[in-house]
Amino acid sequence: MRVFIAGATGAIGRELVPLLARRGHEVTAMSRHGAAAAAAADRVDSVAADGLDREAVARAVAATEPEVVVHQMTALGGDLDLRRFERTFARTNRLRTEGTDNLIAAARDGGARRIVAQSFAGWPYAREGGPVKTEEDPLDPDPPRAVRATVDAIRYLERAVTGAEGLEGIALRYGGFYGSGTSLGPSGEQTELIRGRRFPIVGDGGGIWSLIHIHDAASATAAAIEGGDPGIYNVVDDDPAPVREWLPYLARVLGAKPPRHLPAWVGRLTAGEHGVILMTAIRGASNAKAKRELDWVLRYPSWRQGFKELAIGADRRR
Ligand SMILES: NC(=O)c1ccc[n+]([C@@H]2O[C@H](COP(=O)([O-])OP(=O)(O)OC[C@H]3O[C@@H](n4cnc5c(N)ncnc54)[C@H](OP(=O)(O)O)[C@@H]3O)[C@@H](O)[C@H]2O)c1
Repeated sequence: MRVFIAGATGAIGRELVPLLARRGHEVTAMSRHGAAAAAAADRVDSVAADGLDREAVARAVAATEPEVVVHQMTALGGDLDLRRFERTFARTNRLRTEGTDNLIAAARDGGARRIVAQSFAGWPYAREGGPVKTEEDPLDPDPPRAVRATVDAIRYLERAVTGAEGLEGIALRYGGFYGSGTSLGPSGEQTELIRGRRFPIVGDGGGIWSLIHIHDAASATAAAIEGGDPGIYNVVDDDPAPVREWLPYLARVLGAKPPRHLPAWVGRLTAGEHGVILMTAIRGASNAKAKRELDWVLRYPSWRQGFKELAIGADRRR
């Protein structure tokens, strides 16, 4: 099958492109610079286009006539500054709104059948009720001001993709990425913070995190490219867990000292309201639908297995 991937050089694209090539697909890998990490692989062509340039995207898609178009464009490469969350996410929000519109139009005009787009399950679910949410549960109706535009952009992307006329639309709500090439990779920024005891548990550490190894995020994406009904799927592991459980475990596995504890009011001063919410109030997500309907089998059903490989840098094993 011919597959067009916008955002092919990011954390997920670097796993996904070679995986699709190994599964026999012909891949066109788009980024602004056109040099896909896996460009040397057979069955992979690279193309340069800015996702915010409607004509350039239309030309790139039309030239390859893909059956499936994939949206993996974000702009999260810099440091995540929780105090300046809006600024950090501004470009990503545009890629999730204008960028999505551009890709949908290009997919439709280029004769594609399906579009698969990156969404997020890490923290947007409503902070009420049970600890683990399904795709049917509402997103946060009243997010803190700093993240409102980001939640709005996520909603926009999901509606646009799943409502795209003439296309089978799938939005994948990934959990928090970890593994090679992510900020929670063997030498990622977050991993270094944990090693240096600079990633504290705030308040009671009761925020539930749903994580996903980048290998499993890519294999779920390949499954959604190849099949599955249109709609929204959580792509997370089997083991949603509170920060007070996974963070000390990861510190131990890395050979670091246990994380420090900060009262919520101190956390608010250093990481803002959303930072405290991430640590104390967010909900996790269920992967039951993706496992059932995408016929997806995880290599790392729990972060308990996946984290062990971060310590030895062995998560590049295939
Ligand atoms: N669910 C999650 O936890 C999640 C999701 C996403 C990212 N992250 C984290 O955020 C960090 C950075 O993510 P990342 O490595 O994927 O890098 P990124 O800088 O967010 O870029 C992602 C992809 O989008 C492309 N892109 C960005 N702006 C574009 C534009 N205007 N037009 C076309 N393509 C564009 C990038 O290529 P070019 O820049 O070359 O154009 C790249 O291929 C990593 O630590 C990652 O783990 C986490």
